[in-house]
Amino acid sequence: MLSVQDRAIVKSTVPLLESGGEALITHFYRMMLSEYPEVRPLFNQAHQASGDQPRALANGVLMYARHIDQLDQLGDLVAKIINKHVALQILPEHYPIVGSCLLRAISEVLGDEIATPEVMAAWGAAYGQLADILIGAETSIYDQKEQAPGGWRGARDFIVVAKVDESAEITSFYFEPADKGPILAAEPGQYIGMQLILDGEEIRRNYSLSALANQGQYRISVKRETGGRASNHLHDQLHVGSSIQLFPPSGEFTLTESAKPLVLISGGVGITPTLAMLEAALATKRPVHFIHCARNGSVHAFRDWIDGLAERHPQLKRFYCYDEDDGVSPAAHKVGLLSQEQLGEWLPQQRDLDAYFLGPKGFMAAIKRHLKALGVPEKQSRYEFFGPASSLE
Ligand SMILES: Cc1cc2nc3c(=O)[nH]c(=O)nc-3n(C[C@H](O)[C@H](O)[C@H](O)COP(=O)(O)OP(=O)(O)OC[C@H]3O[C@@H](n4cnc5c(N)ncnc54)[C@H](O)[C@@H]3O)c2cc1C
Ligand code: HEM
Repeated sequence: MLSVQDRAIVKSTVPLLESGGEALITHFYRMMLSEYPEVRPLFNQAHQASGDQPRALANGVLMYARHIDQLDQLGDLVAKIINKHVALQILPEHYPIVGSCLLRAISEVLGDEIATPEVMAAWGAAYGQLADILIGAETSIYDQKEQAPGGWRGARDFIVVAKVDESAEITSFYFEPADKGPILAAEPGQYIGMQLILDGEEIRRNYSLSALANQGQYRISVKRETGGRASNHLHDQLHVGSSIQLFPPSGEFTLTESAKPLVLISGGVGITPTLAMLEAALATKRPVHFIHCARNGSVHAFRDWIDGLAERHPQLKRFYCYDEDDGVSPAAHKVGLLSQEQLGEWLPQQRDLDAYFLGPKGFMAAIKRHLKALGVPEKQSRYEFFGPASSLE
């Protein structure tokens, strides 16, 4: 338990963290990744390079410091961190590494004058408290996932049983466990963690489940990224019969049960979790509006599948928007960037609806703004990032 004095010291550093938080965390990462090679595979280099990961962690630490008196108010953020950690198999033994590098970075960046032994002791205690909260929650999820039907702990060997091209750049992979045992159920919207060894180096990635996991199989659908390590490996080297190591599904961007109309909005490969959500929603009576934006028809995945569902399920209305017409593929309902006016026409009349959206950051920022302006209650409008969370404002 943190003393009143420790809490006061930590809170007093909030303005300092606000102005220098990112530099601090960048320094911390550089130190940790060079001195502790064992944690390198856990971190995505691209997220480091873009600064998104240092920024997300800086934001996490800052929020924590700001709410040190009312940790229950961190609710959403803590759940996000825990789910991301679980999907990548962050373990209790990793925490002292992060803790010691973070504290050293604080003292090196601030200098002796500000980072007094008192300040460092308070931050040591504060980090310890946060680490205990996360370790406790993560351990209990690992236990639950191991004990649940079809569950497991750590990496499990899966085999690719099917590989299907869904568009010019998205390919689906169907996995079954090599031991032929049952698999853990996943909530629609959840993602799996994957462990790959490429050129002798381990890397980890997350992929949303793009179908309900109810046939003893998991399906993911991967966009080939230019220069991307995992996605190119999966597209080029993973074939039917190949094996792959998967961590149990995780994630809090999940479809919650409700009778309200459901609106699923995606851009590009952000379509993947909405497909599992769509499948789940069509098993109920709720109306679903499925809105998908793609650069053009050649990169629009799952169009035939969704059109087929719409024919069989009158509760489903679907709308497609392409940046441009490629002149070859079937036409979209609208060409150009999705405007607020167009979105308004495609939403159900009743604005008391549940919206879930995912896509490139600029796309999500626009959708968030449009939904708000169109009268959708903010707390009923949910989104996720295919990388570390950042601000959409
Ligand atoms: C919860 C979650 C769910 C996801 N679901 C999906 C999904 O369903 N489908 C899907 O396709 N993706 C999904 N992703 C994204 C996925 O995890 C990968 O990030 C994506 O496939 C790219 O990985 P990669 O290894 O191919 O690319 P990376 O090697 O990570 O590279 C990505 C980009 O960054 C550039 N880059 C890499 N390293 C550096 C560097 N050091 N400096 C500068 N630039 C660099 C690369 O050239 C490339 O353009 C999801 C991510 C998350 C977090
Ligand atoms: C108190 C300690 C910690 C805090 C406050 C913290 C906070 C965060 C936050 C805010 C994110 C981003 C979540 C998101 O946006 O989805 C994150 C992701 C992550 N964390 Fe932590 N974390 C802590 C400890 C650790 C430890 C001990 C490790 C392992 C060494 C670790 C590894 C990771 C990884 C690999 C990611 C995903 C990175 C990515 O997407 O590139 N974290 N953490």
